[in-house]
Amino acid sequence: MAMLEVRDLSVRFNTPDGTVSAVNNVSLSLEKGETLGIVGESGSGKSQFAFALMGLLAKNGRASGSVKFEGKDILNAPREVINPIRAQKIAMVFQDPMTSLNPYMRVSDQMAEVLTYHRGMSHRDAVAESVRMLDAVKIPDAKGRARLYPHEFSGGMRQRVMIAMSLLCRPGLLIADEPTTALDVTVQAQIMNLLADLQRDFGMATILITHDLGVVAGFCREVLVLYGGTVMEKSPTDPLFAAPSHPYTRGLLAAIPRVDQIGDELSSIPGSPPNMTQAPKGCPFAPRCGFSAEDCLDHLDPLTEFAPDRWRACNRKVEELA
Ligand SMILES: Nc1ncnc2c1ncn2[C@@H]1O[C@H](COP(=O)(O)OP(=O)(O)OP(=O)(O)O)[C@@H](O)[C@H]1O
Ligand SMILES: [Mg+2]
Repeated sequence: MAMLEVRDLSVRFNTPDGTVSAVNNVSLSLEKGETLGIVGESGSGKSQFAFALMGLLAKNGRASGSVKFEGKDILNAPREVINPIRAQKIAMVFQDPMTSLNPYMRVSDQMAEVLTYHRGMSHRDAVAESVRMLDAVKIPDAKGRARLYPHEFSGGMRQRVMIAMSLLCRPGLLIADEPTTALDVTVQAQIMNLLADLQRDFGMATILITHDLGVVAGFCREVLVLYGGTVMEKSPTDPLFAAPSHPYTRGLLAAIPRVDQIGDELSSIPGSPPNMTQAPKGCPFAPRCGFSAEDCLDHLDPLTEFAPDRWRACNRKVEELA
């Protein structure tokens, strides 16, 4: 049995302008210790997928489908079921660390609170463990720094604090939502290396959410490409990079800047992401796709395994996509 089993997860939001279809029938499974990347442009439903899984959707949101964690149904589960899992077994690093850290509490105190609440530790032990974890994420002088408030840390360090905090209960699954977006490239690389080390040391399964395929390349064994809330392609990472099969994935890959091509014009995907209040009947990418056929606008090909372990929601022949 897989550690995490997601079947046909959909997320809808009620808004004054109509229903927003943020996530459409996403299925995936994740084994213990595995790494999965979820990639897609801004607004493609990455964060809402994670929020739905964790039971953290906004009030106007509804999730349907099924999510099993270690065999237990957790989608829309009552608080007494989801709360212990959410804190101790599945941890999430949010997109914006400043919104998830309490600005009025010392870092050591807010970290310790997690352990006193969930593990019943004494405050003193909890602070000591928090300092150990800050040390593990390579905060220099962890003991001294733990007494500071979040605004006294740099952006990169706050992100490390968030990671340290998420690991306190030694979760089996870590969901990291754009953990490096707000950081400059060198700090981004440090954080990703750190996450990779911790992932290995702690043996955590990890879902890395990012718009950046480059970040996924070095970290994830498998990638799921989302567009308009729908899975376009799902594949082990190496073959995806070597031979992306979906036109959208090809567009994403071509848009990654490469140092050896300085001076060449950067490729971009024409058009803009779909308006999710009018959920497209067919393939959501069709209006922007250079290879679309007439019926793509009202027909979405089901996700199909076209090579071992490689899936895509497009029936166009790969050779035609030259
Ligand atoms: N509470 C809400 N009410 C209505 N629509 C919402 C709500 N929350 C999110 N959405 C919509 O859901 C869609 C998916 O949003 P989501 O936050 O998952 O995007 P994302 O892929 O994480 O983007 P980013 O890369 O910018 O973080 C977007 O169209 C967004 O506007
Ligand atoms: Mg997001």
